[in-house]
Amino acid sequence: MQSVKIGILGLGTVGSGTVSVLKRNAREISRRAGRDIEIFTAADRDTDKNFDCDLTGVALTDDAFSVVNNPEVQIVVELIGGTGVARDLVMQAIDNGKHVVTANKALIAMHGNELFANAQEKGVTIAFEAAVAGGIPIIKAMREGLAGNRIEWLAGIINGTGNYILTEMRDKGRNFSDVLVEAQALGYAEADPTFDVEGIDAAHKLTIMASIAFGIPLQFYKCYTEGISKIAQEDVQYAAELGYRIKHLGIAKRTASGVELRVHPTLIPHRRLIANVNGVMNAVVVKGDAVGPTLYYGAGAGSEPTASAVVADIVDIVRALTSDPENRVPHLAFQPDAIKDTPI
Ligand code: NDP
Ligand code: HSE
Repeated sequence: MQSVKIGILGLGTVGSGTVSVLKRNAREISRRAGRDIEIFTAADRDTDKNFDCDLTGVALTDDAFSVVNNPEVQIVVELIGGTGVARDLVMQAIDNGKHVVTANKALIAMHGNELFANAQEKGVTIAFEAAVAGGIPIIKAMREGLAGNRIEWLAGIINGTGNYILTEMRDKGRNFSDVLVEAQALGYAEADPTFDVEGIDAAHKLTIMASIAFGIPLQFYKCYTEGISKIAQEDVQYAAELGYRIKHLGIAKRTASGVELRVHPTLIPHRRLIANVNGVMNAVVVKGDAVGPTLYYGAGAGSEPTASAVVADIVDIVRALTSDPENRVPHLAFQPDAIKDTPI
């Protein structure tokens, strides 16, 4: 059987991790997908960089549009980030009838409604597991594992950079800006780290999770957003003396007047499980009416943990390519024809 050809846009932290995982685990991945997956082409702004992956056999270009317009490419993997060129590339890929995998939470939270509507019209999938909580398969868990539940609320630590900063401040007494610089060097932070420390990245992720959990359109603008940038070393130490830990949480719940979305720092008693989620790790609790509370834990950022989720989406799409379209698991967060301003 012919291999499925993919094109990768952006070979930074997540892009290079994706190439490495696809190459290293090619045998297992092709067994699970039912087809070989070939990295046919990849684009990065600067093709002369020292990439952190082996690009043997990959046609490298600095023109990302040539990847989305390449008739051989069946799946476009968008790992550039941001809502500018990434939006145009994804829209163009959909217009060209290509399936899309992305780790870009800003793109999904801000432009998901129009992108999903277009994808529905063109009969293609947009998959975005890596956009929320890094390597934790939280989208799949909510959409598939909890499919029989009415989800009542969800809450969690959904920004790895922020959690890394708070943990280092508490455990090692380090100062905020030093740890942020380190988190950037480790590839955890967003291109603009304000998104991490001001809660915007967590709000993007919460918007996406709420859409799936409650079947509502993406409504980023309704999320109360507060970050950790005002938290000082003394706050962290005082909290510890009182038996608490400061954690940045994203919380979404059904209320009598609609769905409430908020991200902000929270004091949590130190014995609680979520208070003990440290470093770059994320954890999300999802409460379903049938199953009760469920907990998902794992690396919330980083090259290969995020690549793990990207590759899982690629495998899902490749599997679907070989199955009857009628029987495919839909990747839409909601029915696009029901897009309207749902009151919160
Ligand atoms: P990086 O900045 O490390 O990688 C992005 C790459 O894309 C860079 O090499 C960049 O080049 C390149 N690029 C930028 N613009 C273009 C363009 N127009 N054409 C071709 N290439 C371009 O980002 P990450 O890998 O960290 O993040 C990628 C996406 O994944 C983002 O949406 C992010 O939010 C998401 N994500 C990241 C996680 C992480 O742990 N890092 C975890 C989960 C999701 P240059 O460096 O020259 O700008
Ligand atoms: N900057 C993000 C974080 C990357 O630190 O959580 C993962 O989405």
